[in-house]
Amino acid sequence: MKSARWVTLALFSIVTLSLAAPAARGDIQYFPERKVWVLEAGETTYAFGVNERGELQSIYWGARVAHGADFQAAHARGEIASFDISTTTTPQEYPGWGAGLYTEPALKATYADGNRDVVLHFVDQHLDGNTLEIELKDIASALQVHLYYRVFPETGILERWSRIDNKTDQAVTLESAQSAAWSLPQGEGYGLHYLTGRWGAEWQLHSEAVQTGARVIESRRGSTSHQANPWFAIDRPDQTTEENGPVWFGALGWSGSWRFTIEQSAMQQVRVTGGFNPFDFAYRLKSGEQLETPPFYAGFTNGGMGEASRILHRFERQSILPGGENAALRPVLYNSWEATEFDVSETGQLALAERASKLGAERFVIDDGWFGQRKTDHAGLGDWYVNPQKFPHGLKPVIDRVHALGMDFGIWVEPEMVNPDSDLYRKHPEWAMNFPGRPHTESRNQLLLNLARDDVRDYVFQWLDQLVTNNDIAFLKWDYNRNWSEPGWDAVDTADQKKIWVAYVHNLYDILDRLRAKHPKLEIESCSGGGGRVDLGILRRTEEVWPSDNTDALDRLTLQDGFTHAYTPGIMMAWVTDVPNGMNGRSVPLKFRFMVAMSGSLGLGGNLNKWTPEELQAATEYVAYYKKIRPTVQRGSLYRLIAPEGSEFSANEYVSRDGRQGVLFAFLHSQRFNTPFPTVFLRGLEENAMYKVQAIDAQQLPDMGNVSGAYLMHHGLDLKLRGDYDSTSVTLEKLP
Ligand code: GLA
Repeated sequence: MKSARWVTLALFSIVTLSLAAPAARGDIQYFPERKVWVLEAGETTYAFGVNERGELQSIYWGARVAHGADFQAAHARGEIASFDISTTTTPQEYPGWGAGLYTEPALKATYADGNRDVVLHFVDQHLDGNTLEIELKDIASALQVHLYYRVFPETGILERWSRIDNKTDQAVTLESAQSAAWSLPQGEGYGLHYLTGRWGAEWQLHSEAVQTGARVIESRRGSTSHQANPWFAIDRPDQTTEENGPVWFGALGWSGSWRFTIEQSAMQQVRVTGGFNPFDFAYRLKSGEQLETPPFYAGFTNGGMGEASRILHRFERQSILPGGENAALRPVLYNSWEATEFDVSETGQLALAERASKLGAERFVIDDGWFGQRKTDHAGLGDWYVNPQKFPHGLKPVIDRVHALGMDFGIWVEPEMVNPDSDLYRKHPEWAMNFPGRPHTESRNQLLLNLARDDVRDYVFQWLDQLVTNNDIAFLKWDYNRNWSEPGWDAVDTADQKKIWVAYVHNLYDILDRLRAKHPKLEIESCSGGGGRVDLGILRRTEEVWPSDNTDALDRLTLQDGFTHAYTPGIMMAWVTDVPNGMNGRSVPLKFRFMVAMSGSLGLGGNLNKWTPEELQAATEYVAYYKKIRPTVQRGSLYRLIAPEGSEFSANEYVSRDGRQGVLFAFLHSQRFNTPFPTVFLRGLEENAMYKVQAIDAQQLPDMGNVSGAYLMHHGLDLKLRGDYDSTSVTLEKLP
């Protein structure tokens, strides 16, 4: 057969060099005689086509099938009985609700004249480099949908999103606008993994069988939420382990309300549909208007849950996070929130800064309490002037001293909120999100500013810009401490008020984007009472996240393990705080706390004034150790060796990008019956290379000379850990 690629070249309206070049690791091919597209990237192939009715039909998602021409034309599935007609048994790439669709629609709309039937058929295609655009149109109206498919050659991640264009002459209200529907190979026996939580207990990993029916994971809260995170993984529990077997996984880039519907039909068709949460959703498009849905990223691997995470981590570092793979390493920071809470002052902060710099901190962050009349959480949000009682000389002397101590300076802000007890609220009560004439539900004594309003957006941008322009600020900890209630927006037409769910997030992104463009060196942490706003949308605009207000090291092991299923450990800020821990009263040794925090982006969060000379000395050594392994932890490949949940032991290993360094962290939570620590089998090393193996405390390892990668991976390490809360870190340096 003539190479499909040449046929493609003649047909695509936009052709780029990458298409003509040999398919390295990523390629989009079109087989026009069959109307089939085959997308190849990394280890994955994804295929779909146009069936005889004109619908865009899913064909394949799984391991790489290098011979794209193998994929046959799409044929609509037949009806099973008069109750399961072909339009519902045929897996579509982006089904509109119409014609007889009983599964989850990707698009549901009502026209101004009352028509609610949307049937989308293929019209055209365009290819631009690694992005394929498919144009669909309703069979009877000029309602258009553009589907986008973008392949990331190195990781094999496929990004999908849609744009709905109202080219009709009447208004159309969208009631559900999803980013994509992902169909898995037909059959039973899938398992679903997802993350849920609550304040102080985020990142709980759940695994359950995919059952016939629909399983919904969502946030209706206006933001990403603690309650569920927009990530999923689906495996074959009878074949898949941490290190082997098929996993289909995905994550949404959206920081507002979202929903995933994981469906298994009675015909054993499994699919995941995700995008804007349709709850309370109504997005009116006037004639000529359009709406773009958030990016939904997905991938496939045969390398188990571990490899699924490593692919996502790499993708996040390469293609999501600001600065790409060579972004600056996360500095070791100090933050006094747990030490002082709202009681911040020039002298108090400077005393802590002196100590923090001696320990090796590189960034000093003033948390909540520095502004307005903020003595507790009852007042001050909205009034972003420096509190003159706490900082009589302004921020400048503090920042200058922090710089003189060799650190850069960061500060806490919560720009989207207002306390009713604030000058801002007294001046602009109408800026708070509310339904006029109805009560406001307060949470932590605060209300949300309605960021969907452009005047509020501009006000927020303007004070943040001034704060960063007038002070040498390297870092903002951007907090967000409540969920939505009474989401009214009476400044716009009644028919447009529900657009608040989308407009708010667009304006949030706009503020962050403008601020970053104007202050290119500024770094931002996304915090929402801990990990309530972590997703691939906010991560395009923030360097790191605060995963939880729970800093108890034992709880953190589980939280961090859950976190790494979806997100790269390098962005996971982790403080060493004081004991007994404020949240649960648990006391664990300083070393254990450091080992846990070093598994992400190390921070210090204790009251250093109370640390003993011995603790300060040990901390200085741990910080210095972290700096030596930091590139491996933050940019390397993570191998989850022993999961902490339900176990008395846990261990994680990181291998640097160039393979020269491996770092192991191992934790004995509580030793029972004198049970020895299980042998730790390392991963990701070179079988034939020799490694120098060193534990942070030499007596925790048996005497050994340099050993091979094969020995470390197959014989493994027998660590000498004892009692409660023992821990170690081991480095593996590859010999030249
Ligand atoms: C949230 C954050 C904390 C701290 C407080 C300040 O809870 O998660 O780290 O900044 O707000 O009020």
